[in-house]
Amino acid sequence: MADAHKDLSDQLARLEEMFTIPQAKLKQITERFVGELEKGLSVEGGDIPMNPTWCMGYPTGHEKGTFIALDMGGTNLRVCEVILTEKKGEFEIIQSKYKMPEELKTGTADELWNYIADCLQQFIQQHHDMKELNHLPVGFTFSYPATQEYIDHGVLQRWTKGFDIDGVEEKDVVPPFEAAIAARGLPLKLTALVNDTTGTLIASAYTDTDMKIGCIFGTGCNAAYMENVGSIPKLAHMNLDPDLPMAINCEWGAFDNEHAVLPRTPYDITIDKESPRPGQQTYEKMIAGLYLGEIFRLVLLDLHQNPDCSMFEGQDISLLQKPYFLDSGFLSQIEEDPHDNLQNTLELFKSTLNISPSRSELEFIRKLAEMIGIRAARLTACGIAAIVKKKGWKTCHVGADGSLFSKSKFFKGRQAQGLKDILDWPEEYGKGKGDPVEVLPSEDGSGVGAALIAALTMQRVKEGQVAGIRDPQAMLRAFKM
Ligand code: BGC
Repeated sequence: MADAHKDLSDQLARLEEMFTIPQAKLKQITERFVGELEKGLSVEGGDIPMNPTWCMGYPTGHEKGTFIALDMGGTNLRVCEVILTEKKGEFEIIQSKYKMPEELKTGTADELWNYIADCLQQFIQQHHDMKELNHLPVGFTFSYPATQEYIDHGVLQRWTKGFDIDGVEEKDVVPPFEAAIAARGLPLKLTALVNDTTGTLIASAYTDTDMKIGCIFGTGCNAAYMENVGSIPKLAHMNLDPDLPMAINCEWGAFDNEHAVLPRTPYDITIDKESPRPGQQTYEKMIAGLYLGEIFRLVLLDLHQNPDCSMFEGQDISLLQKPYFLDSGFLSQIEEDPHDNLQNTLELFKSTLNISPSRSELEFIRKLAEMIGIRAARLTACGIAAIVKKKGWKTCHVGADGSLFSKSKFFKGRQAQGLKDILDWPEEYGKGKGDPVEVLPSEDGSGVGAALIAALTMQRVKEGQVAGIRDPQAMLRAFKM
């Protein structure tokens, strides 16, 4: 009989080779990334969309007013009322969460907009008098790539994160949203369509002026930063003041859709092929929470079927055969098992998958979870370092949100080490705290961030700075400004 332990260590060595990204490769990826950021801003464009958002400046901390913030996330729809108060940088927030039914993700456009408007209606009826004469401004966090000619407009480029709703792509999402609101007579006016990364950037900058990048490391992965209009050739035809600031939603998940530099494994290739949008979001599919559990599942399944080794032999693997059955939280639990004998991992496998791994399988499982987590975190460092290099910043803060960042114990440290490897920091750095580029947990981007962006937009309308605002007069009327 073959030596099961030896077989698995051979497999482990093979996988380590595939999943490990050494320093030189990280640097090479980053170099290419810098060029791709530039390309995205050019008239010709490239893989990375680099979407101008018409969020044109940072908050002062003195923004005031009451706003509705709506966040269409992958699992929940969140509605918040955000009150920006007199005191600098302070706010109050009330919120309700509504579960996004799974079938909505692959349903019809009408079902989506009606569901969103129904949730808003419930929220408004609970907290407001429907007969209020003044409309409340809405900051709508719509975290998908959208082309925005105006801040209150957004043509969905393509669904990401497993969404696949017919009849929304390549159309402006604002009119059907507004129609659903109007049909219910809700006293609301969409003021800003916001990406979660832009919300994160602005919410973080509200309380920390060193914040230069907003990132999401969650179900999806992306970043936004503030560019100057003069560095965005694709906006040159608008003849705007080149010194004006403009937040760019990078949509960096699409990095390397050309497959020039990322070291994709056969598992990454399978994930892409079987996703609703093959060929899209190459970088995101190697990093984001939605995919990490799936990469892990595919490796285990492959080994189970591999005649050169034994993995879960004689066990019922029917649950392991279910696509997307494991999430990134599952990997975190494995990584955080404190016991030498990996007792928690054994229990986890039994309870989740109905599989009882042997001791050598458990050890393999732990190493595999680590490899996938380390690769993801190090790859995120390439995107951050690329923005930092492009802008020539020596130091800055990066505001981050998302489940990988906030819930996975090892993510931050691995990302910091990746940044150190790329940016050649001295020995004392690379631990996170106090690093030249320090990634910090952000304020609530899709709540406070979206409200602030709505506030900044209204302020611009009041001051007559109406670039990127569809109908400033309508806004003045709706809000009686
Ligand atoms: C979307 C981005 C979003 C990111 C994080 C990606 O799939 O395309 O718009 O910022 O996920 O939520």
